[in-house]
Parts: sequence; C-alpha cells; structure tokens
Amino acid sequence: MNKNIFIQNKIKSYKKKIDMPGDKSISIRWALLASQAIGISRAYNLPNSDDINSALNAVRKIGIKVIKKKNYCEIIGNGLNGFLFKNNTIINAGNSGTLSRLLPGLLAKSKNSIIVKGDKSLSKRDFSRIIKPLNLFGINIKSRNNKLPLKITGTDYLRPIVWNEILKSAQVKTSICLAALNTPGITKIRLVGSSRDHTERLFKYLNIPLKIKRSKNFDIIEIKGCKEYKGFNYNIPGDISSSAFFIILTALNKNSQILIKNINVNKTRTGLIDILRKMNVYIKLKNQRIINNEPIADIFVKGSQSLKAIKCPEKIVGRLIDELPILFLICSLAKGTSTFKKIGELRHKESDRLKICSNFLKMIGIKVKETKDGLKIFGNPNLKNKKFYEIKNFMKDHRIFMMSCIAALTLGGKWKIHDKNSINSSFPEFISKLKFLGAKII
Ligand code: S3P
Repeated sequence: MNKNIFIQNKIKSYKKKIDMPGDKSISIRWALLASQAIGISRAYNLPNSDDINSALNAVRKIGIKVIKKKNYCEIIGNGLNGFLFKNNTIINAGNSGTLSRLLPGLLAKSKNSIIVKGDKSLSKRDFSRIIKPLNLFGINIKSRNNKLPLKITGTDYLRPIVWNEILKSAQVKTSICLAALNTPGITKIRLVGSSRDHTERLFKYLNIPLKIKRSKNFDIIEIKGCKEYKGFNYNIPGDISSSAFFIILTALNKNSQILIKNINVNKTRTGLIDILRKMNVYIKLKNQRIINNEPIADIFVKGSQSLKAIKCPEKIVGRLIDELPILFLICSLAKGTSTFKKIGELRHKESDRLKICSNFLKMIGIKVKETKDGLKIFGNPNLKNKKFYEIKNFMKDHRIFMMSCIAALTLGGKWKIHDKNSINSSFPEFISKLKFLGAKII
C-alpha cells in the first residue's frame, strides 16, 4: 500500500451527508465486556480498524469465541473470568493504549499469566497509571520501568480498593471498573475531574451494580463486584473524534455544509462542539435520541465567515482531549490569541502531541508559545500557503496525519504527507471520505 499521499489543491465547497466509523472507545469496551458476559453478544457497526481488530484478537487469545460476519460481530462469553488460555500467552495490543490499559483489569482473576506487548509508539507509553491501582487489588504486574511488555498474573484473592483518580483518565477508571467486576465487595473510585463515561453507561445498561455519588467537587463511583450479566446486543454509534476532522474542515470552508449521521454526542465527548460554537461555528445537533444508553445525533455544520479565538477552560480538556490537534489548527486560522492550559496529558498520547502540533503550526507560519502543559496560538485568518510541505517524523500518529490532511486541504499549496497507514488504527476510510467530499488526493 502507498505510504505517502500528495495534496496539491484546496478542497472546493461541498454540501454532503456522510457517516463515520463506529466509536473506538465504545467498541473496545463492548468487546471486553462481551468476553465475560454469559452467552452471545452482538455488535453492529463495529469498525474494521487495527485497534478494534487487536481487541478482537485479544479476546480470541484468552479463549473466547469471536465470529465476524459482514454486518455484525458476535462474541460468545462464558461469564465472569470464564477465560481459557495457557500460561504466558502473548497478546499484541498494536497501537491501542485503551486495549493495553483495559486488558490487565479484565484479567484480574486469571491465574495464568498474560504478556501484553505493543508497537513502537505504545511501547514508549507509561503504564504506572494502571499498575498502581491494579496492584492494590492484588494483581501482579511485572514490567521494566512501567513500560510494555507487561506480565499480568491475576489472583483468586482480589480485594476491593478505594482509588483517587487524579489523572482524569477514562482508561485508568475503566481498568479499575473491570477489575472491580471480579472483586467481591465494593470498589470506590473518586474522580477529581470528568472523563468519558462509556464504561459507567455500559455497566448500568447491563444492570451491573454501579452507583455514582455526585458532590460539588468530585464524583465517587461505587461498584459491587461479582454479579454475572447476560450477553447483549449493541449498536456502536459513530465516532465523534473521527467526525472532528470533518466538522473542522467544513467550518474552515466558507460555503460548505455537512450532515454527519448517527454520532455519539455523550456530554463527556462533546467539548469540541461547545468550543467551536464559542468560536462562531454554526453547529446543530439534529434527530437527538438515546440508543443503548448513549445519546446519539446527526451533526450539522456550516462553513464559518469569521472565526474568533478562544480561551479553552481547563474544565473542558477531558471532554475534548483527542480533538486538541485539530482544534489547534482551527485556532491558528481564527482572529486573536487562543490559549490552552493544563493540557500536559497530550504529551502522553500516541506521540507527544503538544510538541508535534506546536512544531507543525510554526512550520506553516503560525506564532505559538509552548509551555510544559500549555499552548498559546496567535491566530492568522489570512494565512496562505505558497510553499511545498513534507510532513514526516510524527511517530506515525493517526490524529496528526489526519490534522495535516485537513491543513493541506484548507491552506492549499503542495503537500507530501507520510505514513498514511497510521489511519488504520482508528479510521481506515478517512481518505476515501475526503475524496467523497471532493478532495483531490493522490
Ligand atoms: C480513551 C480515553 C482517553 C483517550 C483515548 C481513549 C478511552 O485517554 O485519549 O484515545 O477509550 O478510555 P485517557 O483516558 O488516558 O485520558
């Protein structure tokens, strides 16, 4: 497959309706929860991306049957901890941070050891964030410097924990929730900030005993372990993080309109929509409904005439963490100075997205000020590109590749963008969807 793409023209105006691949976070949670349900679970609209295929392969490796059909996928579980695998089975999580951090929680009670490894980028990421709470349950995790590969050995003697979740990480929260499922007694997670709540919603959907006690400064999740649940059917909604690239491409293209169908608009994921509205972008949620305990809508966006800079409130960061790279791009083309604080988590994603984005913006001629955990962007609505740009060395990060394509289609000029294969981890159809809108990409 061709690993580079060339973009030589701005995209022309369009008025289109499109759909998106299924949500990555929900899909991985579905697969892991289905793996220990009793009986058959079926998911519709599961993406055919590398991260999801890694999750399905992981479920197969722990001895659970997975059947992929054209329109759906089935997993046949044996109930809680009903896994069957040999000692020291190796699972390759590929590029997926979510899978690699959730699996050790899922395997809390498995006495045979599992070894989780990953690709080059995943092998650089930190796992202390899950090792610490999972150790408290009694799970044994061996690693070198808290990096992959991890060797995980569960136990029959799990003890419930009380955990203060200060990183505001949905992956950590979910890993603890999965371990709590197999742990007798009540596990408590104190959340000092919000993060995506798909796990909590799925637990409630499956009648797993989970309570959320809300107070002014923090929420406490309480999970009572060891309750079995039955196999379940699920319609995976479209991914808002994938939609973000199309929302912003349209917002940056004066006479364009787009309707993105069936997207998950869970409040813990829609920070981007709130921010873009403040920047003067016309966005409307149509046909709002609840499916499988998740809010879904069609997102309608119109091209904007005059974009305003924003001060991104710290509180919102957890609700748009994966959308920050593409949000930085639109801020670069808005009038005024945009500021982002407390976004240090961005340095711990598939790449150091804070550094890579600030270098990218400087390269296209935008003044930025990068700090340890913040970014100031001095927007220029009149920015034009007359140069040739070659985009490489971004750690094969899918979201940086996609952001670069949107920059190229908005600014024009000649671009060569490397590592097209990176999109396979979340959004293999990205290029064909851009072509459907009229983009010329070779
Ligand atoms: C995810 C949570 C987020 C996000 C990641 C997916 C999830 O990470 O960046 O792409 O599915 O739980 P953190 O939980 O580490 O913030």
